[in-house]
Amino acid sequence: MSLSTLAQEILAEVASAADEPQLEAVRVSALGKKGSISERMKSLGAMSPEERKEAGAALNVLKDKVAEAISVRKTYLQEQALEQRLASEKIDVTLPVRPQQQGTVHPVSQVWEEVVQIFGDLGFSVAEGPHIEDDFHNFDALNIPPEHPARQEHDTFFFNEKPDGSRMVLRTHTSPVQIRTMLSEKPPIRIIAPGRTFRSDSDMTHTPMFNQIEGLVIDETTTLGNLKWVLAEFCKAFFEVDDVKMRFRASHFPFTEPSMEVDINYAREGGKLIIGHGDKWLEILGSGMVHPAVLQSGGIDPGKYQGFAFGMGLDRIAMLKYGIPDLRAFFEADLRWLRHYGFRALQVPTLVGGLS
Ligand code: DAH
Repeated sequence: MSLSTLAQEILAEVASAADEPQLEAVRVSALGKKGSISERMKSLGAMSPEERKEAGAALNVLKDKVAEAISVRKTYLQEQALEQRLASEKIDVTLPVRPQQQGTVHPVSQVWEEVVQIFGDLGFSVAEGPHIEDDFHNFDALNIPPEHPARQEHDTFFFNEKPDGSRMVLRTHTSPVQIRTMLSEKPPIRIIAPGRTFRSDSDMTHTPMFNQIEGLVIDETTTLGNLKWVLAEFCKAFFEVDDVKMRFRASHFPFTEPSMEVDINYAREGGKLIIGHGDKWLEILGSGMVHPAVLQSGGIDPGKYQGFAFGMGLDRIAMLKYGIPDLRAFFEADLRWLRHYGFRALQVPTLVGGLS
């Protein structure tokens, strides 16, 4: 076989090698110890000096040419392999959400998240407490001693008596988180505590399990003015209105002094509640300045610190904002209701992007 035919053959094999192992086989069969080019090199010894000079040079040229072709092909194959891998591992992040998506976010979760966003922006953090509470945190420390009439109003669920005669309760409000926070943190304190609460009660506006959100701020100079401002900011942000009228009505809670219930104005238009319009009043929360006895129970010196607290029905403000008439439906897990009132899973409420 002539050298040029051999060259053509080898270069054709290089060009058609489909992957790196195949290319390596071609290399071995041409340039390896027993390869076709190497074999011809061996035959140089039998030639005359003139012949050898010419044939040797030609073989060297071919050797270089083949080595170069192999190297070019190798780079090409490697690039191809990488491209294939990238193509097969690609994730199309621009793909839209599957339209058949079924699940929705429950209005309570939605409102919970909205409230956390708003108070987070005001510098509050989220605190938690257990659903099963002891008498101290749920009542005593909140200035509700055993014979206090407020205990009757709470329709408490009790657990069986323990050997020492005490009984655990399902917390009747989120206020015990106030005590837990005071006992575990030093002022300044700025927390909200959203969570489940329980009372033995059931009608259109009451369910045995419901959600509240507690607020607590304690510092050396915290005032009633601060409370009013925070609540006003909250109401505007939550109901997504520029202005809302607020009425602070004197009230009584054992754990605050003075105590106030807060109403906001609304109008009813075509069966719909419009918050921030009109001259009707709607009660949305209880609040006040933390009672010195409560600070003391929380291990905080009432001579140095003061603060405010508030408590709101989370379900209730969800009903108001989203026009949901019956509280009981919140907890019936009726799919038709959830599809109607639920929120899209990826529609996360933020203050910048919009709450609802
Ligand atoms: N814990 C009260 C309840 O469940 C609500 C409440 C009223 C909480 C006034 C407060 C407050 O923190 O200051 O009825």
